[in-house]
Amino acid sequence: MNIAQLQQEILRLKKEKDVCVLAHSYQAREICEIADFTGDSYKLSVDASKVKNKTILMCGVRFMAETCKILSPEKTVLLAAPQAGCAMADQMDKELISQVKTMYPNHTVVAYINTTADLKTICDVCVTSSSAVKIVNNIENKDILFIPDCNLGAHVAKQCPDKNIKLLNGGCPIHACVNTDDVKKAKALYPEAELLVHPECVPEVCAMADYIGSTSGIMDYAVKSDKKEFIIGTEISIAEHLQYMCPDKTFHILSLKLICPNMKATTLVDVYNCLSGKGGEEIVLSENTIREAKRCIDEMIRLGE
Ligand code: 13P
Ligand code: SF4
Repeated sequence: MNIAQLQQEILRLKKEKDVCVLAHSYQAREICEIADFTGDSYKLSVDASKVKNKTILMCGVRFMAETCKILSPEKTVLLAAPQAGCAMADQMDKELISQVKTMYPNHTVVAYINTTADLKTICDVCVTSSSAVKIVNNIENKDILFIPDCNLGAHVAKQCPDKNIKLLNGGCPIHACVNTDDVKKAKALYPEAELLVHPECVPEVCAMADYIGSTSGIMDYAVKSDKKEFIIGTEISIAEHLQYMCPDKTFHILSLKLICPNMKATTLVDVYNCLSGKGGEEIVLSENTIREAKRCIDEMIRLGE
């Protein structure tokens, strides 16, 4: 089968088996094309909670599929590529954070959504990159322990000067790899271009940007902007999607280091195999994990409104 035939077969199977396919915006174009919803991690988690289908198939990484299961425990949630973890989510576990919490007993524990379901059970509220500033501002407590991403945390701390934010030494190894030399080189090559970066980049890189935002935030900004040329400081697939969406504009990749192997793990064949019952993995979480982790996600939705 060629790509178009595979896509047709996937569309047919999806309908026959009542499956809703979600694709994070870092997924390849041919996967986004067959998805019912695409977007950033916040949008996907809300979309997943509203759909009527009996089964959800996540094209993304494990914590995203877990979030869908927590929000829709009655549904079957499948992860197309079982090997797709998230290097950041795997950095901190429940045991470590339980110990850290004893050092900061009066702090509200704010967990980036890029954390495991197990870790979420002991946190107070989740945030995503697009909702973090608003949610932290809406938390009554002044004292916040923000985990695991110290770069997103530093970005939030800058926007929320009234809060006392304690950060740990975690983050996305892909975004955090980009440095100011990479930015200088890209700006020298494309002096007219605006620089749009994800807040998982280090503060020195963010300080050089014209816009800092989530994957959807970056895409919206570029689509609506009057400017014609952009350097994209997040996973390289965003520059590719934008180039197709806005053929009259030009998008450059900030650095070739910005390739997430976990996000690139899913192929169209994985999606097909998963829908045919020959691949993928069903996400199974205990009732207790779902109940405790849901508190944290419900708080995110409540404080994000
Ligand atoms: P968004 O919250 O912008 O979707 O980002 C998810 C992610 O994994 C970024 O690396
Ligand atoms: Fe995780 Fe970073 Fe990949 Fe996003 S880009 S999924 S934070 S490893």
